[in-house]
Amino acid sequence: MGMLSVRPFEVGDWALYRAVRLAALADAPDAFGSTLEREQAFTEERWRERLAGRDQFLAEDSGQACGLIGIVPTGPRTADLVSMWVAPAARGRGAADLLVGEALRAADAGGIACVELWVTQGNDRAERLYARHGFHRTGRVQPVREGESRLEFAMKRRAATDGSKATTQLPH
Ligand SMILES: CC(C)(COP(=O)(O)OP(=O)(O)OC[C@H]1O[C@@H](n2cnc3c(N)ncnc32)[C@H](O)[C@@H]1OP(=O)(O)O)[C@@H](O)C(=O)NCCC(=O)NCCS
Repeated sequence: MGMLSVRPFEVGDWALYRAVRLAALADAPDAFGSTLEREQAFTEERWRERLAGRDQFLAEDSGQACGLIGIVPTGPRTADLVSMWVAPAARGRGAADLLVGEALRAADAGGIACVELWVTQGNDRAERLYARHGFHRTGRVQPVREGESRLEFAMKRRAATDGSKATTQLPH
């Protein structure tokens, strides 16, 4: 078992980003609003734009890519946490906690007061992960993809500086 670490992606990392993101979509198609087929068609320019437009972090296991997370601004002080994925071989060792921790540090440093995300119904492992980092369900629910019956629910976390404490809360 190797050493886990997390670092930001640089715009020049677009091919590595594409490889990790496509691996995530192939591995866990039910966890994401997008699809492998859709993103396989993205051009280099599109991947570069995605890296430039959001903070993204890469998890590595002894230097080998093993996970991904992104923070997409949705307003001056709000952002969505997206693309959370840890490769199956690296799960259960804290890579997800490292990724969420880095993404939230970046959000806090950028003055983001409220971070939101969507979790597919039944993805209990992901829900427990987010709850450990202070997220709680908002009550909002929507289909994972247009025209599909599977649902996803919203979770939200307010920054500690935003009046309410970002402590771990049980989902309800
Ligand atoms: C959701 C996901 C990112 C979580 O990653 P993970 O590595 O499995 O999760 P964790 O690091 O939280 O580890 C899982 C378990 O190992 C435990 N664990 C965490 N760090 C640990 C460590 N250092 N040593 C031993 N166990 C550890 C956790 O307590 C957790 O247990 P729990 O789920 O019973 O609470 C991962 O399962 C995944 O990529 N799934 C597919 C994609 C997906 O669902 N993405 C989320 C979209 S919203």
